[in-house]
Amino acid sequence: MGSWVLVFRALVLVLAGFSGSIRAYYGATDFITWEDMKVDVEKERLEVREERNQSRVIVVDLNGKGDSITVQGAVDMVPQHNSQRVKIYISPGIYREKVFVPDSKAYISFIGDENRTAETIITWNNKASDKDKDGYELGTYRSASVTIESDFFCATGITIENSVVAVPGSYGMQAVALRVSGEKAMFYRVRILGAQDTLDDDHGSHYFRQCYIQGSIDFIFGRSRSLYQDCVLHSTAKRSGAIAAHHRDSHDDDTGFSFVNCTINGTGRVYLGRAWGTYSRAIYSYCDIDNIITPSGWSDWNQPSRQKTAVLGEYKCRGKGADRRKRVSWSKSFSYKEVRPFLDVKFIGGEKWLRL
Ligand SMILES: *[C@@H]1O[C@H](CO)[C@@H](O)[C@H](O)[C@H]1NC(C)=O
Ligand SMILES: *[C@@H]1O[C@H](CO)[C@@H](O)[C@H](O)[C@H]1NC(C)=O
Ligand SMILES: *[C@@H]1O[C@H](CO)[C@@H](O)[C@H](O)[C@H]1NC(C)=O
Ligand SMILES: *[C@@H]1O[C@H](CO)[C@@H](O)[C@H](O)[C@H]1NC(C)=O
Repeated sequence: MGSWVLVFRALVLVLAGFSGSIRAYYGATDFITWEDMKVDVEKERLEVREERNQSRVIVVDLNGKGDSITVQGAVDMVPQHNSQRVKIYISPGIYREKVFVPDSKAYISFIGDENRTAETIITWNNKASDKDKDGYELGTYRSASVTIESDFFCATGITIENSVVAVPGSYGMQAVALRVSGEKAMFYRVRILGAQDTLDDDHGSHYFRQCYIQGSIDFIFGRSRSLYQDCVLHSTAKRSGAIAAHHRDSHDDDTGFSFVNCTINGTGRVYLGRAWGTYSRAIYSYCDIDNIITPSGWSDWNQPSRQKTAVLGEYKCRGKGADRRKRVSWSKSFSYKEVRPFLDVKFIGGEKWLRL
Protein backbone atom coordinates (compact mmCIF):
# COMPACT_ATOMS: atom_id res chain seq x y z
CA MET A 1 0.00 0.00 0.00
CA GLY A 2 1.46 3.33 -1.00
CA SER A 3 2.08 5.95 1.63
CA TRP A 4 -0.34 8.30 -0.12
CA VAL A 5 -3.12 5.86 0.53
CA LEU A 6 -2.21 5.80 4.20
CA VAL A 7 -2.15 9.57 4.38
CA PHE A 8 -5.51 9.67 2.62
CA ARG A 9 -6.97 7.16 5.06
CA ALA A 10 -5.64 9.08 8.04
CA LEU A 11 -7.19 12.25 6.61
CA VAL A 12 -10.54 10.53 6.16
CA LEU A 13 -10.39 9.31 9.74
CA VAL A 14 -9.58 12.77 11.06
CA LEU A 15 -12.39 14.33 9.03
CA ALA A 16 -14.83 11.64 10.12
CA GLY A 17 -13.87 12.19 13.75
CA PHE A 18 -14.21 15.94 13.31
CA SER A 19 -17.66 15.80 11.73
CA GLY A 20 -18.68 13.23 14.35
CA SER A 21 -17.81 15.64 17.11
CA ILE A 22 -19.64 18.46 15.36
CA ARG A 23 -22.67 16.26 15.19
CA ALA A 24 -22.32 15.32 18.83
CA TYR A 25 -22.08 18.97 19.74
CA TYR A 26 -24.85 20.40 17.60
CA GLY A 27 -26.65 17.06 17.42
CA ALA A 28 -29.23 16.70 14.67
CA THR A 29 -31.63 16.05 17.53
CA ASP A 30 -30.87 19.16 19.55
CA PHE A 31 -33.89 20.92 18.11
CA ILE A 32 -37.60 20.58 18.31
CA THR A 33 -39.28 20.65 14.91
CA TRP A 34 -42.82 20.25 13.56
CA GLU A 35 -41.72 16.83 12.31
CA ASP A 36 -41.11 15.77 15.92
CA MET A 37 -44.83 16.29 16.57
CA LYS A 38 -46.12 14.24 13.62
CA VAL A 39 -46.67 10.58 13.11
CA ASP A 40 -48.23 8.62 10.28
CA VAL A 41 -50.60 6.51 12.36
CA GLU A 42 -51.90 4.28 9.57
CA LYS A 43 -48.39 3.42 8.52
CA GLU A 44 -47.41 2.65 12.11
CA ARG A 45 -50.36 0.35 12.60
CA LEU A 46 -49.72 -1.61 9.41
CA GLU A 47 -46.01 -1.98 9.71
CA VAL A 48 -44.43 -5.08 11.15
CA ARG A 49 -42.98 -4.76 14.60
CA GLU A 50 -39.33 -4.72 13.58
CA GLU A 51 -39.78 -1.88 11.14
CA ARG A 52 -41.78 -0.01 13.70
CA ASN A 53 -38.82 -0.23 16.08
CA GLN A 54 -36.61 1.35 13.46
CA SER A 55 -38.95 4.25 12.98
CA ARG A 56 -38.84 4.82 16.73
CA VAL A 57 -42.56 5.16 17.24
CA ILE A 58 -44.21 3.48 20.19
CA VAL A 59 -47.98 3.14 19.98
CA VAL A 60 -50.06 3.33 23.15
CA ASP A 61 -53.51 1.84 22.88
CA LEU A 62 -55.91 1.08 25.72
CA ASN A 63 -57.35 -1.88 23.83
CA GLY A 64 -54.06 -3.64 23.37
CA LYS A 65 -53.62 -2.84 19.68
CA GLY A 66 -50.32 -1.04 20.24
CA ASP A 67 -47.03 -1.67 21.99
CA SER A 68 -48.31 -0.65 25.41
CA ILE A 69 -51.66 -0.13 27.07
CA THR A 70 -50.28 2.63 29.31
CA VAL A 71 -48.34 5.80 28.56
CA GLN A 72 -45.84 4.99 31.31
CA GLY A 73 -45.29 1.58 29.75
CA ALA A 74 -44.23 3.33 26.54
CA VAL A 75 -41.91 5.71 28.39
CA ASP A 76 -40.34 2.69 30.10
CA MET A 77 -39.54 1.21 26.66
CA VAL A 78 -37.37 4.20 25.75
CA PRO A 79 -33.74 3.34 26.45
CA GLN A 80 -31.85 5.16 29.19
CA HIS A 81 -29.65 8.00 27.86
CA ASN A 82 -31.50 7.80 24.61
CA SER A 83 -29.94 10.12 22.01
CA GLN A 84 -32.59 10.12 19.27
CA ARG A 85 -36.16 11.21 19.15
CA VAL A 86 -38.76 8.64 20.12
CA LYS A 87 -42.38 9.41 19.29
CA ILE A 88 -45.02 8.00 21.56
CA TYR A 89 -48.35 7.98 19.76
CA ILE A 90 -51.23 7.95 22.23
CA SER A 91 -54.48 6.60 20.78
CA PRO A 92 -57.68 8.32 21.92
CA GLY A 93 -58.85 7.11 25.33
CA ILE A 94 -58.75 7.94 29.01
CA TYR A 95 -55.45 6.88 30.57
CA ARG A 96 -55.88 6.83 34.35
CA GLU A 97 -52.27 6.86 35.45
CA LYS A 98 -49.46 9.01 36.74
CA VAL A 99 -46.75 9.50 34.13
CA PHE A 100 -43.11 10.27 34.85
CA VAL A 101 -40.49 11.02 32.19
CA PRO A 102 -37.06 10.89 33.89
CA ASP A 103 -34.20 13.20 32.94
CA SER A 104 -32.28 10.21 31.53
CA LYS A 105 -34.76 9.98 28.64
CA ALA A 106 -34.47 13.02 26.39
CA TYR A 107 -36.09 13.59 22.98
CA ILE A 108 -39.48 12.10 23.71
CA SER A 109 -42.66 13.24 21.92
CA PHE A 110 -46.21 12.59 23.14
CA ILE A 111 -48.48 12.76 20.11
CA GLY A 112 -52.26 12.46 20.02
CA ASP A 113 -54.77 12.64 17.17
CA GLU A 114 -54.93 16.33 16.24
CA ASN A 115 -58.73 16.16 15.89
CA ARG A 116 -59.36 14.25 19.13
CA THR A 117 -57.31 16.15 21.68
CA ALA A 118 -60.19 16.32 24.16
CA GLU A 119 -60.71 12.55 23.96
CA THR A 120 -57.07 11.67 24.55
CA ILE A 121 -56.64 12.23 28.26
CA ILE A 122 -53.97 11.38 30.79
CA THR A 123 -55.59 11.90 34.18
CA TRP A 124 -54.82 11.32 37.83
CA ASN A 125 -56.02 12.85 41.08
CA ASN A 126 -53.27 13.41 43.64
CA LYS A 127 -53.24 16.52 45.78
CA ALA A 128 -50.46 17.98 47.94
CA SER A 129 -51.82 16.57 51.20
CA ASP A 130 -51.97 12.98 49.90
CA LYS A 131 -49.41 10.65 51.46
CA ASP A 132 -46.80 8.61 49.64
CA LYS A 133 -46.15 4.96 50.52
CA ASP A 134 -43.82 5.99 53.36
CA GLY A 135 -46.46 8.22 54.93
CA TYR A 136 -44.98 11.55 53.84
CA GLU A 137 -47.14 14.19 52.21
CA LEU A 138 -46.56 14.44 48.48
CA GLY A 139 -46.50 18.22 48.48
CA THR A 140 -47.38 20.25 45.40
CA TYR A 141 -44.30 19.16 43.44
CA ARG A 142 -45.06 15.45 43.57
CA SER A 143 -48.81 15.80 43.03
CA ALA A 144 -48.47 16.10 39.23
CA SER A 145 -50.38 13.71 36.98
CA VAL A 146 -47.67 14.08 34.33
CA THR A 147 -44.08 15.02 35.18
CA ILE A 148 -41.47 15.84 32.55
CA GLU A 149 -37.88 16.00 33.78
CA SER A 150 -36.13 15.34 30.47
CA ASP A 151 -34.78 17.72 27.86
CA PHE A 152 -36.22 18.31 24.35
CA PHE A 153 -39.62 16.95 25.24
CA CYS A 154 -42.59 17.91 23.10
CA ALA A 155 -46.30 17.13 23.11
CA THR A 156 -49.30 17.77 20.92
CA GLY A 157 -52.91 16.67 20.58
CA ILE A 158 -53.43 15.43 24.13
CA THR A 159 -55.14 16.48 27.37
CA ILE A 160 -53.37 16.35 30.72
CA GLU A 161 -55.59 16.55 33.77
CA ASN A 162 -55.60 16.53 37.54
CA SER A 163 -59.20 15.73 38.44
CA VAL A 164 -59.13 16.67 42.14
CA VAL A 165 -62.12 18.83 42.98
CA ALA A 166 -60.36 21.53 44.94
CA VAL A 167 -61.95 23.41 47.78
CA PRO A 168 -60.40 26.82 47.15
CA GLY A 169 -57.75 27.82 49.65
CA SER A 170 -58.16 24.85 51.98
CA TYR A 171 -55.17 22.90 53.24
CA GLY A 172 -53.24 20.72 50.81
CA MET A 173 -55.52 21.22 47.83
CA GLN A 174 -52.74 22.06 45.40
CA ALA A 175 -53.12 19.52 42.62
CA VAL A 176 -50.78 19.76 39.66
CA ALA A 177 -51.78 18.38 36.27
CA LEU A 178 -48.42 18.92 34.56
CA ARG A 179 -44.97 19.65 35.96
CA VAL A 180 -42.25 20.56 33.46
CA SER A 181 -38.72 20.61 34.85
CA GLY A 182 -36.75 19.69 31.70
CA GLU A 183 -34.42 22.25 30.16
CA LYS A 184 -36.26 22.71 26.84
CA ALA A 185 -39.79 21.72 25.92
CA MET A 186 -42.62 22.57 23.56
CA PHE A 187 -46.35 22.04 23.99
CA TYR A 188 -48.53 22.60 20.95
CA ARG A 189 -52.31 22.30 21.14
CA VAL A 190 -52.21 20.58 24.50
CA ARG A 191 -55.01 20.97 27.04
CA ILE A 192 -53.91 21.23 30.66
CA LEU A 193 -56.74 20.97 33.16
CA GLY A 194 -56.86 21.39 36.92
CA ALA A 195 -57.90 23.79 39.65
CA GLN A 196 -55.32 25.05 42.14
CA ASP A 197 -51.74 24.98 40.76
CA THR A 198 -52.61 23.31 37.43
CA LEU A 199 -49.35 23.89 35.59
CA ASP A 200 -46.06 23.74 37.48
CA ASP A 201 -43.84 25.44 34.91
CA ASP A 202 -41.01 24.58 37.18
CA HIS A 203 -37.66 25.03 35.49
CA GLY A 204 -36.16 25.47 32.00
CA SER A 205 -37.11 27.26 28.77
CA HIS A 206 -40.52 26.30 27.47
CA TYR A 207 -42.81 27.15 24.59
CA PHE A 208 -46.58 26.78 24.92
CA ARG A 209 -48.41 27.45 21.67
CA GLN A 210 -52.17 27.31 21.15
CA CYS A 211 -52.60 25.49 24.45
CA TYR A 212 -55.66 25.56 26.68
CA ILE A 213 -54.83 25.95 30.37
CA GLN A 214 -57.53 25.82 32.98
CA GLY A 215 -57.47 26.49 36.73
CA SER A 216 -58.39 28.77 39.59
CA ILE A 217 -55.54 29.74 41.91
CA ASP A 218 -51.95 30.36 40.72
CA PHE A 219 -52.76 28.02 37.90
CA ILE A 220 -49.57 28.75 36.01
CA PHE A 221 -46.65 28.91 38.42
CA GLY A 222 -42.94 28.18 38.64
CA ARG A 223 -39.44 29.44 37.92
CA SER A 224 -39.23 28.91 34.17
CA ARG A 225 -38.53 31.15 31.24
CA SER A 226 -41.64 30.54 29.15
CA LEU A 227 -43.50 31.94 26.20
CA TYR A 228 -47.25 31.33 26.06
CA GLN A 229 -48.39 32.22 22.58
CA ASP A 230 -51.98 32.11 21.26
CA CYS A 231 -53.10 30.19 24.35
CA VAL A 232 -56.46 30.20 26.13
CA LEU A 233 -56.11 30.78 29.88
CA HIS A 234 -59.42 29.73 31.34
CA SER A 235 -60.32 30.60 34.93
CA THR A 236 -62.71 28.37 36.87
CA ALA A 237 -62.43 30.46 40.06
CA LYS A 238 -65.72 30.79 41.91
CA ARG A 239 -64.65 33.96 43.69
CA SER A 240 -61.01 34.98 43.85
CA GLY A 241 -58.01 33.42 42.23
CA ALA A 242 -54.89 34.17 40.21
CA ILE A 243 -53.50 33.17 36.85
CA ALA A 244 -49.72 33.50 37.03
CA ALA A 245 -47.39 33.11 40.00
CA HIS A 246 -43.86 33.44 38.72
CA HIS A 247 -40.90 32.87 41.00
CA ARG A 248 -37.69 34.77 40.36
CA ASP A 249 -35.08 35.47 43.02
CA SER A 250 -32.68 37.82 41.30
CA HIS A 251 -32.71 40.80 39.00
CA ASP A 252 -30.19 38.93 36.82
CA ASP A 253 -32.35 35.85 36.23
CA ASP A 254 -33.48 35.57 32.60
CA THR A 255 -36.70 33.80 33.65
CA GLY A 256 -40.28 35.01 33.38
CA PHE A 257 -43.68 34.23 31.94
CA SER A 258 -44.57 36.06 28.73
CA PHE A 259 -48.15 35.75 27.49
CA VAL A 260 -48.57 36.92 23.91
CA ASN A 261 -51.85 37.05 21.98
CA CYS A 262 -53.61 34.85 24.55
CA THR A 263 -57.34 34.77 25.30
CA ILE A 264 -58.24 35.03 28.98
CA ASN A 265 -61.76 34.09 30.00
CA GLY A 266 -63.92 32.00 32.31
CA THR A 267 -65.32 32.88 35.71
CA GLY A 268 -64.42 34.60 38.96
CA ARG A 269 -62.37 37.63 39.84
CA VAL A 270 -58.77 36.69 39.36
CA TYR A 271 -55.44 38.46 39.53
CA LEU A 272 -53.37 38.48 36.38
CA GLY A 273 -50.52 37.50 38.64
CA ARG A 274 -49.03 37.37 42.09
CA ALA A 275 -45.42 38.19 42.97
CA TRP A 276 -44.32 34.81 44.29
CA GLY A 277 -40.60 35.58 44.32
CA THR A 278 -39.03 38.96 45.02
CA TYR A 279 -38.28 39.61 41.33
CA SER A 280 -41.32 37.81 39.92
CA ARG A 281 -41.81 38.58 36.21
CA ALA A 282 -45.01 38.17 34.18
CA ILE A 283 -46.02 40.15 31.11
CA TYR A 284 -49.21 40.08 29.07
CA SER A 285 -48.96 41.51 25.55
CA TYR A 286 -51.68 41.76 22.88
CA CYS A 287 -53.99 39.57 24.98
CA ASP A 288 -57.77 39.53 24.86
CA ILE A 289 -58.88 39.73 28.49
CA ASP A 290 -62.49 39.13 29.49
CA ASN A 291 -64.24 40.82 32.39
CA ILE A 292 -62.92 38.39 35.02
CA ILE A 293 -59.92 40.33 36.33
CA THR A 294 -59.73 41.97 39.76
CA PRO A 295 -59.45 45.65 38.77
CA SER A 296 -56.24 46.10 40.79
CA GLY A 297 -54.80 43.38 38.55
CA TRP A 298 -51.74 42.30 40.49
CA SER A 299 -50.85 41.16 44.01
CA ASP A 300 -47.57 41.67 45.89
CA TRP A 301 -48.23 38.44 47.88
CA ASN A 302 -48.62 40.61 51.02
CA GLN A 303 -44.95 41.61 50.73
CA PRO A 304 -44.99 45.37 49.99
CA SER A 305 -41.21 45.34 49.43
CA ARG A 306 -41.82 43.31 46.25
CA GLN A 307 -43.61 46.27 44.70
CA LYS A 308 -40.21 47.73 43.91
CA THR A 309 -38.67 44.60 42.44
CA ALA A 310 -41.42 42.61 40.73
CA VAL A 311 -41.84 43.08 36.97
CA LEU A 312 -45.54 42.59 36.39
CA GLY A 313 -47.52 44.37 33.72
CA GLU A 314 -49.25 44.62 30.40
CA TYR A 315 -48.81 45.87 26.89
CA LYS A 316 -51.61 46.58 24.41
CA CYS A 317 -54.18 44.15 25.78
CA ARG A 318 -57.84 44.49 24.86
CA GLY A 319 -61.21 43.47 26.33
CA LYS A 320 -63.09 44.49 29.46
CA GLY A 321 -60.49 42.95 31.76
CA ALA A 322 -57.69 44.98 30.21
CA ASP A 323 -58.71 48.31 31.71
CA ARG A 324 -55.66 49.50 33.61
CA ARG A 325 -57.26 52.51 35.32
CA LYS A 326 -57.62 50.75 38.68
CA ARG A 327 -54.42 48.74 38.53
CA VAL A 328 -51.99 48.87 41.45
CA SER A 329 -49.64 51.78 40.83
CA TRP A 330 -46.53 49.60 40.93
CA SER A 331 -47.61 47.38 38.03
CA LYS A 332 -46.14 48.28 34.67
CA SER A 333 -47.65 49.69 31.54
CA PHE A 334 -44.85 48.74 29.18
CA SER A 335 -43.61 50.54 26.10
CA TYR A 336 -43.00 48.63 22.88
CA LYS A 337 -39.27 48.95 23.45
CA GLU A 338 -39.62 47.33 26.86
CA VAL A 339 -41.74 44.37 25.74
CA ARG A 340 -39.96 43.76 22.45
CA PRO A 341 -37.58 41.12 23.96
CA PHE A 342 -40.54 39.16 25.33
CA LEU A 343 -42.72 38.96 22.22
CA ASP A 344 -41.28 35.97 20.38
CA VAL A 345 -39.26 32.78 20.83
CA LYS A 346 -36.02 34.72 21.21
CA PHE A 347 -37.14 35.37 24.78
CA ILE A 348 -36.78 31.63 25.48
CA GLY A 349 -33.59 31.24 23.42
CA GLY A 350 -35.74 29.51 20.80
CA GLU A 351 -33.46 30.44 17.90
CA LYS A 352 -31.04 27.88 19.39
CA TRP A 353 -33.43 24.99 19.98
CA LEU A 354 -36.60 25.45 17.97
CA ARG A 355 -36.78 24.89 14.20
CA LEU A 356 -40.36 25.66 13.36
C1 LIG B 1 -38.92 -4.40 18.78
O1 LIG B 1 -39.97 -4.15 19.71
C2 LIG B 1 -40.38 -5.29 20.43
C3 LIG B 1 -41.57 -4.91 21.30
O2 LIG B 1 -41.66 -3.54 21.49
C4 LIG B 1 -39.20 -5.83 21.25
O3 LIG B 1 -39.61 -6.98 21.96
C5 LIG B 1 -38.06 -6.15 20.33
O4 LIG B 1 -36.94 -6.54 21.10
C6 LIG B 1 -37.69 -4.93 19.48
N1 LIG B 1 -36.68 -5.30 18.50
C7 LIG B 1 -35.59 -4.56 18.30
C8 LIG B 1 -34.67 -5.04 17.23
O5 LIG B 1 -35.31 -3.55 18.94
C1 LIG C 1 -58.08 16.21 11.11
O1 LIG C 1 -59.11 16.85 10.39
C2 LIG C 1 -58.68 17.51 9.21
C3 LIG C 1 -59.88 18.25 8.63
O2 LIG C 1 -60.99 17.42 8.56
C4 LIG C 1 -58.09 16.49 8.24
O3 LIG C 1 -57.61 17.14 7.09
C5 LIG C 1 -56.94 15.76 8.93
O4 LIG C 1 -56.43 14.74 8.10
C6 LIG C 1 -57.41 15.15 10.24
N1 LIG C 1 -56.27 14.59 10.94
C7 LIG C 1 -56.21 13.31 11.31
C8 LIG C 1 -54.97 12.88 12.02
O5 LIG C 1 -57.10 12.49 11.10
C1 LIG D 1 -53.64 35.36 17.75
O1 LIG D 1 -54.27 34.16 18.19
C2 LIG D 1 -55.35 33.75 17.34
C3 LIG D 1 -56.03 32.58 18.02
O2 LIG D 1 -55.14 31.53 18.27
C4 LIG D 1 -54.82 33.42 15.96
O3 LIG D 1 -55.86 33.04 15.11
C5 LIG D 1 -54.11 34.66 15.39
O4 LIG D 1 -53.49 34.33 14.17
C6 LIG D 1 -53.05 35.17 16.35
N1 LIG D 1 -52.56 36.45 15.90
C7 LIG D 1 -51.26 36.71 15.72
C8 LIG D 1 -50.93 38.08 15.27
O5 LIG D 1 -50.40 35.88 15.92
C1 LIG E 1 -62.77 31.37 25.86
O1 LIG E 1 -62.08 31.69 24.68
C2 LIG E 1 -61.93 30.60 23.77
C3 LIG E 1 -61.07 31.06 22.62
O2 LIG E 1 -61.57 32.22 22.02
C4 LIG E 1 -63.31 30.12 23.32
O3 LIG E 1 -63.16 29.00 22.50
C5 LIG E 1 -64.14 29.76 24.55
O4 LIG E 1 -65.45 29.42 24.15
C6 LIG E 1 -64.19 30.93 25.53
N1 LIG E 1 -64.89 30.52 26.74
C7 LIG E 1 -65.76 31.33 27.36
C8 LIG E 1 -66.41 30.77 28.59
O5 LIG E 1 -65.98 32.45 26.98
